[in-house]
Amino acid sequence: MCLRTGLVLVPVLFGLALGDVAPPTINVSLDQDPEVRWKPLMDIYDPDYLREASAEVIDSTIPKWMHHAVIPIVTALEKFVPQPYAGEIRGIASLLKGNLADAVMLNFAYEVSAFCTSIVAQDTKGHVYHGRNLDYPHPVLRNLTININFLKNGKVAYQGTSFAGYVGLWTGQSPHKFTVSGDQRGTEHWWNWWKNVVSAFLFRRSPVSWLVRETLEDAEDFTDAVMRLSKTPIIAGVYYIVGGVRAGEGVVITRDRAGPVDIWPLEPLNGGWFRVETNFDHWRPTPSRDHRREVANKALNTTGQNNINMHTLYKVLSLSPVCNGITVYTTMMSAASPDNYKTLVRAKGCPWMD
Ligand SMILES: *[C@@H]1O[C@H](CO)[C@@H](O)[C@H](O)[C@H]1NC(C)=O
Ligand SMILES: *[C@@H]1O[C@H](CO)[C@@H](O)[C@H](O)[C@H]1NC(C)=O
Ligand SMILES: *[C@@H]1O[C@H](CO)[C@@H](O)[C@H](O)[C@H]1NC(C)=O
Repeated sequence: MCLRTGLVLVPVLFGLALGDVAPPTINVSLDQDPEVRWKPLMDIYDPDYLREASAEVIDSTIPKWMHHAVIPIVTALEKFVPQPYAGEIRGIASLLKGNLADAVMLNFAYEVSAFCTSIVAQDTKGHVYHGRNLDYPHPVLRNLTININFLKNGKVAYQGTSFAGYVGLWTGQSPHKFTVSGDQRGTEHWWNWWKNVVSAFLFRRSPVSWLVRETLEDAEDFTDAVMRLSKTPIIAGVYYIVGGVRAGEGVVITRDRAGPVDIWPLEPLNGGWFRVETNFDHWRPTPSRDHRREVANKALNTTGQNNINMHTLYKVLSLSPVCNGITVYTTMMSAASPDNYKTLVRAKGCPWMD
């Protein structure tokens, strides 16, 4: 009896305790000057909290001695940051009453150590669904997760999910055109991080998350987005997962800094109705300790092409270890139905499943 009660109660308690919650949404108007367009952040955050939370993220990513050593260099390099990012970062630094070097560093800190799972899938009617988990080993990010509508002429030009203080996007949607997510490729050490920052400026390469944003802003359609995300030089390797609005429009792009290494499209006519990308090249086996790909593949196979939709995709993204102790948020999107864009913050990760 006790045992039975336990078994019934446990999932209920977890459901209450974990309660995945929608993050706040802000509007960022691209018609305003870059320096002031992030002001709506202050409607939801206290500047002191945001400054302290950002400092925690920087401290967990960059060794302290190095942090101090690079401040003058970062300050000098800031002159080379292209617009609108330079203005936006400067504006955020002043909103937070913090220093500019830290705001710049924060925007590069997220370029490392983001582990993720992205899935693009197509149902039997040709609807394309795209889901992603963003994993990052810092709990404060759950409090910093926000949805952002980027407005032009008062209308949503594109939208995405990000962290307060960060101007790039790892997840986003251009309504009725395409959806994009980025997953880190390979592991970077902090010394590579530094090399990347310098190469970004000197070789005019784009941080991977800035290219996502530019693509959402400029690309005409799915094909144009895939071209831009494949060819534009970036500062680090990455996987870009892209979903479109028509049957067959889904792809995993494996990138190195100069260009595409591999393009892996959906092939619905040959049984390839879904693609799963975690943090490893899809044609290579995953490390034996990492079962995310295998579990997601199996669950999608079991779900079946007739049953895939936003809801079942969320279920797959909630399975252990696809969702795990460091999962920060899950986003489900479908470019053809932009109103269904949905992000849920995993309030406590999925710790029961690790
Ligand atoms: C997140 O916010 C909640 C409520 O505001 C707070 O209790 C919690 O300590 C915060 N977590 C972190 C890691 O800052
Ligand atoms: C954001 O912009 C949209 C579109 O103009 C508008 O409908 C919505 O009310 C705005 N939300 C906020 C919080 O300002
Ligand atoms: C999916 O299921 C089919 C049979 O139902 C099986 O042949 C195939 O190997 C499975 N694929 C994966 C990735 O589990």
